[in-house]
Amino acid sequence: MERDFEKERQAFADSWVLAGRVEDVPGPGNYYTWEKTRVPLLILHATDGEIRSFYNSCRHRGAPVVRVERGRNRALRCQYHSWTYDTTGKLVSVPDERDFVDLNREDRGLVQIKAETIGGWIFITENLNANSLTESLGDIANKLLEDTQLLIAKRETKNVRTNWKLMQETLTDNFASTNDETSTSGHSLGEDSYAIPPNLLHVTIEKHDVIFTTWPIDENTTELEIIYLAPPSETTISPAEDSAWQKEISSIQKTIQQVIE
Ligand code: FES
Repeated sequence: MERDFEKERQAFADSWVLAGRVEDVPGPGNYYTWEKTRVPLLILHATDGEIRSFYNSCRHRGAPVVRVERGRNRALRCQYHSWTYDTTGKLVSVPDERDFVDLNREDRGLVQIKAETIGGWIFITENLNANSLTESLGDIANKLLEDTQLLIAKRETKNVRTNWKLMQETLTDNFASTNDETSTSGHSLGEDSYAIPPNLLHVTIEKHDVIFTTWPIDENTTELEIIYLAPPSETTISPAEDSAWQKEISSIQKTIQQVIE
């Protein structure tokens, strides 16, 4: 059983998974740490404009390069012995470098994984042989492109005492507008819903777009992330601060709660 669970976790490492929104790293130097697949990662907006992801592990002795959840910096300095990396992952400074015989900085940059964006979403995969995100998504890529202008009205995370696949099935059965038998293998689930394996479900609840991602903590516990989306605002008030929006979200939250309880 445990081995099956570990296999499932490997599937997460091999797949493209949703890891954030471009607004999370609005400018060059912005970064955040991310551990939903139980691997410490770093996602950043590099000074060359690219969004990149690295293992958050210093190439000296493996300490976390970044220790705060979010920040902005044009260089990443490990607190242990001050090895410093630029935002492309290159090792740019080593104190007392002459003491490290045969150190080749070129070989000791941060280890990068794949990161790509579509429709304002950031996806990552540890699988360096994975097809491009667009190729992997197939027809669903067009649906994600429609999200480009959407705003995040609210995000929340809950730990739910159930297996992540059961959680995914429950959400699909209750919110995806289809009886499609192929639903667990992903892709289109009807006009307003789609799934991206292994763990993303995009649905419409009370006319609003909602994204669920389910992350296994252990065999019987799931971290459920819920992202409530709003259309582009015609006012200067963001949906996150708009009381009318927040009222609508409360109503959707109640509906979701009834389903996952
Ligand atoms: S572990 Fe990072 S500089 Fe030593």
